[in-house]
Amino acid sequence: MSVSAPELVAAKAQPRPYDVVRSAYGELIVSDLAASERFYVDLLGFIVSARTDDRIYLRGWEERAHHSIVLQAGPQSAAARMAFRVRSEDDLERLAAEFEALGCPVSRVESAHVGMGAAVRVWDPFGFPLEFFHEMEQFDTQLQRFDIQRGAPVMRFDHFNLHTPQLEQALTFWQELGFRCTEYIATDDDERIVFACMARKATVHDVALSAGRGPRLHHLGFAVAEPLAILRVCDQLAAAGHTRAIERGPGRHGATNAFFLYLRDPDGHRIELYTGDYYTGDPDLKPRRWSLSDPSCRSFWGTPAPDSWYQESSVVLSSDGSPSGVVDATIDEQQIRSELMV
Ligand code: CO
Repeated sequence: MSVSAPELVAAKAQPRPYDVVRSAYGELIVSDLAASERFYVDLLGFIVSARTDDRIYLRGWEERAHHSIVLQAGPQSAAARMAFRVRSEDDLERLAAEFEALGCPVSRVESAHVGMGAAVRVWDPFGFPLEFFHEMEQFDTQLQRFDIQRGAPVMRFDHFNLHTPQLEQALTFWQELGFRCTEYIATDDDERIVFACMARKATVHDVALSAGRGPRLHHLGFAVAEPLAILRVCDQLAAAGHTRAIERGPGRHGATNAFFLYLRDPDGHRIELYTGDYYTGDPDLKPRRWSLSDPSCRSFWGTPAPDSWYQESSVVLSSDGSPSGVVDATIDEQQIRSELMV
């Protein structure tokens, strides 16, 4: 890297002619819609907002917006889209023009999903299928329907975690979209970054970037109210005979302070249940640096992550609708970590 990790993350997000409010929903291609519904609705307790012949729209108990996951039946499981809400309808064309100027594929859709208006769909320079939208149907919050809540219960969507082989370049790209870096993990010599949290809303992240084979979606992160919600899900999954869905945790990350649980859905898509976020909205917030050699950065309690957590992710769809090809990263966090821990 020509600039050091602290110099790279310190670059200020420039004012943009649009306002991305937050990460909003993920769209997953699943092979068996009924099996996915059992996992997300019956076991995790998501609310069904709408159904079509080949899609289910889900939201958490706190959420007013129509959906935070779209499950779509398809021949091969993949991550179809990572969507962001923008402040106004006018922001859409400004974003479309910016991605067109970068030479990225851009399409404009109208009511492509239940409960939504216009959206701009793009493939970013790193191959990730992104969407920007403003209009989405609203419901009353179910936050205090303690009498009918199920599962954790899952409260709201929180973030995307993306596996990319071009982490430093992607970090600069997200800064140029107006995202702030809040935390990152760098090699001890500050030559490389293996993990970075990028935020628009005043929490730790809307997008996490993880160095690895990509472009792939590592996980969709959902907020729960408290650590006990995560323990409750573990008990419920076990009682229902689904212990194999539990991949990693419960535990606490050093970076992000998340009390976490990683689950794999019936297609292998990874879902993180997450609590422990903190406020990051001050304009002069300094990105928090972690050293890769610090055993507490990924797991505050020191418990190592399983191989699958480092290596497996969901492929994303390319602009022609086929699964996107992937490229290996030039740095292997798991390998470095295992050598450091010997
Ligand atoms: Co996460």
